[in-house]
Amino acid sequence: MSTQPLFTPYRMGDLDLPNRIVMAPLTRMRAQSHDHVPTAVQADYYAQRASAGLIIGEATAISPEGFGWADTPGLWTEEQVRGWRRITDAVHKAGGRMIAQLWHTGAISHPELLGGAQPVSASNVDPGQLSFTRTGRKPTVTPRSLTKYEINVTIADFARAARNAMEAGFDGVQILANYLYLISQFLNATTNLRKDEYGGSLENRSRFLFEVVESVLGEVDALRVGVKISPMHEGGAFQANEETLSIAEYAIQKLSTYNLSHLLLMGNTTDFSGTPLEKLAGDGMFQHFRPLFDGTLIANVKMDRDRGNRLIAEGLADLVAFGRPYIANPDLVQRFAENAPLAEVDWETVYASGPHGYSDYPTYQPSKDLTPHR
Ligand SMILES: Cc1cc2nc3c(=O)[nH]c(=O)nc-3n(C[C@H](O)[C@H](O)[C@H](O)COP(=O)(O)O)c2cc1C
Repeated sequence: MSTQPLFTPYRMGDLDLPNRIVMAPLTRMRAQSHDHVPTAVQADYYAQRASAGLIIGEATAISPEGFGWADTPGLWTEEQVRGWRRITDAVHKAGGRMIAQLWHTGAISHPELLGGAQPVSASNVDPGQLSFTRTGRKPTVTPRSLTKYEINVTIADFARAARNAMEAGFDGVQILANYLYLISQFLNATTNLRKDEYGGSLENRSRFLFEVVESVLGEVDALRVGVKISPMHEGGAFQANEETLSIAEYAIQKLSTYNLSHLLLMGNTTDFSGTPLEKLAGDGMFQHFRPLFDGTLIANVKMDRDRGNRLIAEGLADLVAFGRPYIANPDLVQRFAENAPLAEVDWETVYASGPHGYSDYPTYQPSKDLTPHR
């Protein structure tokens, strides 16, 4: 038995995890283009990674309007639910646990992905990002702002996707509330210029997030519902501003009152120097937010075995999520247990199609040449 903190069992909500190594959500564009149904190769890929304490599935659109990245899966049709069921069955058969990540891309989508329709958002502000269409990356366009009626429909779509996820055999759900997507478009003062109760104050800008959380809680027990949220500094309209930290603090403190399964908190992915998030760089993110969230905290971004063990030992994280390391190392848990070297990612095949560079990364085989001779 390993004495590493990453290898101590953990109870997250009402799920027993055999270790604290989490596979972070990774979009890999292997779903069917025309109907957004996950494919058989995805079942192989996820089952290969079932030794993780928890797998967080790739971002999955909650509705046709929320769809916004080519070849990614959905959770609004019966066929999609059946496709996911093949995957969750394969993961469970291999001894794993898996939750679904619920996604509405909002203004990051593109008319090419929406049958020509304009993407929707909190307000009609072009986020100044790139959309991932079937014919490559294209600049985002100016979205149209959701009406209040449409906001209610979207909130109900989150609930339907959560219900579908449980029907598909997932062990829970995670609401995607960071990066550049619809919930962040409401939280961010630059992309939310609304004058109604969904815009303006911190409370108003986070209203959409909390209405989504509450509608999902109407379908799935809180012990199986988590949120991915963190202040970020990205390009265009998502550069950190003077309210980026305060809205994250407000939202995370309020999320703490819902007895949720977990909070997935990303450390900095970009350079925070000279931004209002400067003090959150490195471990600063976890030092700042750990006291504000009373529940399971999953730390992520640029983790390795030693840093993961240290953050758990220091009480800054309960679980540690690994994204890029899981692309090329299906047996990451085993490699950490044995302190084996990690395989490198082939970036050419990350967003490609089929099994190559996806479900054909081998497990670690100690080379005979490296076996010490005595
Ligand atoms: C190829 C790729 C796809 C990703 N897809 C998602 C996604 O679908 N949902 C999400 O919340 N984050 C996504 N992320 C972010 C990862 O979950 C993770 O937060 C990030 O890679 C940092 O962790 P790491 O340093 O261990 O890679 C993606 C990252 C990569 C590299």
